[in-house]
Amino acid sequence: MLSEKKITIAVDGYSSCGKSTLAKALAGSLGYLFIDSGAMYRGVTLYCMRSGLIENGVLQKEAIENALNEIELHFEYNPETDISELILNGENVEHQIRMPNVAANVSKVAAIKSVRHKLVEEQRKIGANGGIVMDGRDIGSVVFPNAELKLFVTAAPEIRAQRRKDELESKGVQITLDEVIANLMERDLIDSTREESPLIQVEDAIVIDTSYLTREEQLKQALELVNQVTLQN
Ligand code: CDP
Repeated sequence: MLSEKKITIAVDGYSSCGKSTLAKALAGSLGYLFIDSGAMYRGVTLYCMRSGLIENGVLQKEAIENALNEIELHFEYNPETDISELILNGENVEHQIRMPNVAANVSKVAAIKSVRHKLVEEQRKIGANGGIVMDGRDIGSVVFPNAELKLFVTAAPEIRAQRRKDELESKGVQITLDEVIANLMERDLIDSTREESPLIQVEDAIVIDTSYLTREEQLKQALELVNQVTLQN
């Protein structure tokens, strides 16, 4: 029996390892809020691309920093898709932010200090009352260092790439496995070597390897961990 106390759950890991799938299922089972923090970095990236602040993979860093106050992001739950969709300055951009052109630039944008400060502040506000599962790269290390439960999700590289290819194809995007692998590798490298809050596995995180687990098995493991934590608190 799960206790009534609503905790904070941080889910971190490399690109396309199943973080969002697990975090969303966990939030659904617990009646918690689910926030995909990566969507916010993707939203900022889309805005910059549309504003001509990123061209051919080249970022105008200072102009991006100055444009941050023009960007308003929030999530709106869509019962038809069962997804909290990203709204950028009043426009639903959930589909556009998942496209490969955004994925190609997002890690460079996410390495900019002021971008992170803005989004981390917003993420903390959203999670201020607990009862939240947030997934990303720096959730357990920076956004919610006091989270009661921290998960670090991993999966074998070829499985991650195949899952992302399938996901993109289901959205009508034709892409080769090699293109997907190249993007995942590039993002992993930038995300884990950047100066500002790089992706790390914090000491108190518990690893879940999703490579050979079904969605149900992953969820079961995570729920058992939640149960242990809530019994202790
Ligand atoms: O879903 P996927 O694993 O492809 O990535 P995502 O969660 O949508 O995140 C996209 C990108 O945003 C990552 O590659 C990071 O560069 C950045 N990100 C971050 O820096 N910090 C977070 N908390 C979440 C995402």
